[in-house]
Amino acid sequence: MRVAMIGTGYVGLVSGACFADFGHVVTCIDKDAGKINALNNGEIPIYEPGLQQLVAKNVAEERLYFTTDAKDAIRTADAVFIAVGTPTRRGDGHADLSYVYAAAEEIAELIEGFTVVVTKSTVPVGTGDEVEAIIRKTNPDANFAVVSNPEFLREGAAISDFKRPDRVVVGTDNEEAVKVMRELYRPLYLNETPIVVTRRRTSELIKYAANAFLAVKITFINEIADLCENVGANVQEVSRAIGLDNRIGGKFLHAGPGYGGSCFPKDTLALSRTGHDAGAELKIVNAVIEVNDARKKKMADKVIDFLGGDVSGKSIALLGLAFKPNTDDMRDAPSIDIVAKLQEAGATVRAFDPASMKEAGHVMKDVVFCDGPYHAIENADALVIVTEWDQFRALDLDRVKATMKSPNIIDLRNIYDTEDMRDRGFNYISVGRAY
Ligand code: UGA
Repeated sequence: MRVAMIGTGYVGLVSGACFADFGHVVTCIDKDAGKINALNNGEIPIYEPGLQQLVAKNVAEERLYFTTDAKDAIRTADAVFIAVGTPTRRGDGHADLSYVYAAAEEIAELIEGFTVVVTKSTVPVGTGDEVEAIIRKTNPDANFAVVSNPEFLREGAAISDFKRPDRVVVGTDNEEAVKVMRELYRPLYLNETPIVVTRRRTSELIKYAANAFLAVKITFINEIADLCENVGANVQEVSRAIGLDNRIGGKFLHAGPGYGGSCFPKDTLALSRTGHDAGAELKIVNAVIEVNDARKKKMADKVIDFLGGDVSGKSIALLGLAFKPNTDDMRDAPSIDIVAKLQEAGATVRAFDPASMKEAGHVMKDVVFCDGPYHAIENADALVIVTEWDQFRALDLDRVKATMKSPNIIDLRNIYDTEDMRDRGFNYISVGRAY
């Protein structure tokens, strides 16, 4: 099959490289000439384990191409994917669909023969109808079907999520389009990955419902963690025990500083707006948004309170800045709120993150970015573990203690054992663990 992928952001690049690896011929298109030049030189603009090698392999085997010129790729494509950004629209929380609609117009003028136009971007219910109307209006003779095919990739695990997904969702009632989609995902189909074929609007909603449900799960356990702290219980044991109930499941029950990233914050907000506009208020989702926003700020108070209520003139080291490990993505990362509030309270912040310090430099000011964890904690009055990178899980704790000015550790990801840390002489607190 021939695939054109519009947008070489996170989703477009990973999906394009994986489809090429399935054996299809994929052309990734982006208006940003600098990005395309870089990709053609083998430079990958995002941090994603395994992506560089996957791109290089498929470029070398002549199945993956990058271009700014959409014409040929779209004209010859069996399927054109729209994988452009749908950021939060300024001011009102709705998804900004201008990039999706611009892509639809571009596609309309170029398609030839039966073409499946696939929205992979996360788009609110009804966007597929609008994309169809735009193409129909721009090119009344076009022979096409618009399909919704949401992606469920996690940053940092995107390639394995694409190649071994729990399910693939295809939203269309056009039989011919379903055939094309099945052919595109054939390697997964052979592995018996469930392919859920449904109507387009339902498919669009599935994506938001999935992300919102995961956000609910995280926020629920975060509130239970706060309760655990107040009543002498341990949230990790609560998570494990409730997770063993198959109806609940153990995943996404890690208490922490609140969810961040490019998806949950944006998608919960957009879903909330859709609910409001459609006359079906989503009160649970609304509460989750509010609780999570407040939580990120509350984490700095936790640090300040632990240090006796006054951090002015103190040096605080942060380990981990990205919203989660194995990514350099800083979007809506809890570290942003934590740093701002600590600085406001007069603390000096030193920080180390294995991948995100360049990105962090764009969203936080006056932070001393360090060469490694031990450099960050030099003479620190406290260490805050914000992101659970593997390399922070096995620090040389004797060295940590000897390097810090005072052995105060606030572990926002529960990666160390409370009793062990106290035995080693640390003043140690974590999230939701009274013991
Ligand atoms: C999320 C979904 O997991 C993907 O399925 C989806 O495709 C993607 O959004 C998207 O819509 O594009 P991602 O944002 O990459 O993926 O990251 P997650 O691994 O889901 O983590 C999101 C946030 O939740 C992180 O800040 C993480 O630290 C936090 N989290 C996650 C917790 O605090 N506790 C948990 O138990 C799990």
